[in-house]
Amino acid sequence: MAYASFREFLERLESAGELKRISAPVSPYLEITEIADRVMKRPGGGPALLVERPSLGSFPLAINAFGSRRRMSWALGVEDYEEIAAQISEMLRPEAPGSLAAKLRMLGPLRRLASSPPKRVSNAPCQDVALEGSAADLRLLPALHCWPEDGGPFITLPLVFTHDPVTGKRNVGMYRVQIFDERTAGLHWQLHKVGAEHHRGREAAASVRAFEGGSGHGRYHVAIVLGGDPVYTFCAAAPLPPMIDEMLFAGFLRRKAVGMVQCRTVDVQVPADADIVIEGWVDPAERRPEGPFGDHTGFYTPIEPYPALHVTAITHRRNPIYPATIVGRPPMEDGWIGKAVERVFLPMIRLMVPEIVDMNLPVEACFHNLALVSIRKRYPGHAYKVMNALWGLGQLMFTKMILVFDDDVNVQDLAECLWIMGNNLDPERDLLVTRGPVDVLDHASRETGYGSKIGFDCTRKTAAEGYHRIWPERIRMTDEVKARIDALWPELGL
Ligand SMILES: Cc1cc2nc3c(=O)[nH]c(=O)nc-3n(C[C@H](O)[C@H](O)[C@H](O)COP(=O)(O)O)c2cc1C
Repeated sequence: MAYASFREFLERLESAGELKRISAPVSPYLEITEIADRVMKRPGGGPALLVERPSLGSFPLAINAFGSRRRMSWALGVEDYEEIAAQISEMLRPEAPGSLAAKLRMLGPLRRLASSPPKRVSNAPCQDVALEGSAADLRLLPALHCWPEDGGPFITLPLVFTHDPVTGKRNVGMYRVQIFDERTAGLHWQLHKVGAEHHRGREAAASVRAFEGGSGHGRYHVAIVLGGDPVYTFCAAAPLPPMIDEMLFAGFLRRKAVGMVQCRTVDVQVPADADIVIEGWVDPAERRPEGPFGDHTGFYTPIEPYPALHVTAITHRRNPIYPATIVGRPPMEDGWIGKAVERVFLPMIRLMVPEIVDMNLPVEACFHNLALVSIRKRYPGHAYKVMNALWGLGQLMFTKMILVFDDDVNVQDLAECLWIMGNNLDPERDLLVTRGPVDVLDHASRETGYGSKIGFDCTRKTAAEGYHRIWPERIRMTDEVKARIDALWPELGL
């Protein structure tokens, strides 16, 4: 289902008892963090919050709107996000449909894909109010100064629209935005992300121009979108390959093409149903100190140079709602977004690594630090093949530790994983240490973005892998005895 607005989504949450209003004028400077953190730490994620009158900024603020399995699923327009994983699995099934019924069944997803590309519309609620020049003041936003040592207020749920300098292809990424002053902001797209790749292309073009005696400027346009259908937020955070347009994927998920409108001062199209749009330009030669920021690792990321956005306009709906989140020591709201990404992308991962049965990136390990993977093991060294495949696959390259299990291990059960890991590992034999890119947020690696990874082969070992003893069986009660005791159980009074 497609939402007409972020407000419509929040109204649905409220009528289901999933949203609480805060009418007290609490401050975006630390106070909203303290409230939201307490709520997000509740089992199940706590309710969404609508802060009606933040003490700074001009708009109400919603936080933790994605902060439970139910709300994250509703944001994607389904009752549970596993439905989307199942639909994608069905679409990616390699067999050609045999029966007429199967062929007809295939037409559904194809029709859905065909109607997914974004389309231009003329009605643009996101431009109900247009502020340009000195009226375009970032202090209108109740942006959160999240943690005491943060370098300033940050926009924490921004959808950053950029274009490839050569192909013109759009990318939408969720990269935090630090508000430097009324009209400048920092764009924290990390080294490996598509926004950074677009920027590097502009930097290269600008230095060629400077070498040839031109101005070397080559300013380019960026738009930052806040709100709109909540599915956009998921798509911006999702690790889609660069050739897949996030707005196409959004159209597919919501079963309705995203209506796009031209920005007023920059050559970028944005979803017409957005709540707030910040338009501006970036000079490829300019970098400013960004941070520190209390990050999703639970630690501060240090000050580093990042590109700056110079704001040319802010447009918004007549009554916009400013979407926000906080990150910090898990569990937090972003954990629910990450879990949905894990489940929805698993079928696509399986397309390339089909021996994978299940996968769990535990929220406690900040996702990229640990992957628990179960496989159908077929040959010697199979666990290592899977580790290497995952380290070579999109943003899974950031995974610091991969534990590979046999298919009879439930990787969603951390206790079971520790039990099997502890018992099945011979550390000297079963480890693979390697090097490669690591998450820019990793503070342990030798260099920013470059370090080491480790894989643990927790599968049963075979003679072909040099194991010449008899691998023991797991202790299990017989079904027969279980059934007898089940029948007897009520009489035992236990
Ligand atoms: C709440 C939240 C905040 C994020 N902040 C950043 C950030 O500041 N910088 C960054 O590079 N990635 C950040 N990410 C992760 C990216 O959104 C994610 O890697 C995404 O897939 C990047 O899109 P891209 O592949 O189009 O570059 C954040 C994710 C979430 C959920």
